[in-house]
Amino acid sequence: MKSIQHGDRPKVSVKDLVEQAKDLSKRAQAGAPTPATKVSDELLEMMNQAISMEIQVSIQYMWQHVTWSGIKGYAFHAALKDIAIEEMKHAEAIAERLWYLGETPSTEPTPIYVGEGLRDMLQQNDKDERATIELYKRIIRQAMEEQDETTAQLFREILVDEEEHHDSFISVLEAI
Ligand SMILES: [Fe+2]
Ligand SMILES: [Fe+2]
Repeated sequence: MKSIQHGDRPKVSVKDLVEQAKDLSKRAQAGAPTPATKVSDELLEMMNQAISMEIQVSIQYMWQHVTWSGIKGYAFHAALKDIAIEEMKHAEAIAERLWYLGETPSTEPTPIYVGEGLRDMLQQNDKDERATIELYKRIIRQAMEEQDETTAQLFREILVDEEEHHDSFISVLEAI
């Protein structure tokens, strides 16, 4: 009979296993999902920060769409609404992942700045998209370090959208 090779397995102590089992049973009793992937508090905090930023820009862009006035850049007016909706979908996708990982998603946006006038609005959006891109690259690196491929993949997909948003904002800024 062929013997099973255990040589490559990472060493996990009995104490660790008992702690993990206790943790999972506590969550199960509370009715929360029991994740098969465990990540650091640092990664969970960064993901909650991402949700706050997504909620912020979702409201910010939607209100900019509503209060947008004048003819300059008017063609972009409808695009703001589409981007606002996309940001809310990002917030939902990240919240789903965070909940699966055993953390409650934030309901608090980071400070919203609607702005007055096109240039003011777009300059703010440029800054916010840059900050988002920077944070998501950090999340992807951290998730990879923790072998959480799913979170890394989710943020890679969202990052593509964020770079498109950023490109749209700076293109309009250059044109006005
Ligand atoms: Fe987003
Ligand atoms: Fe964005």
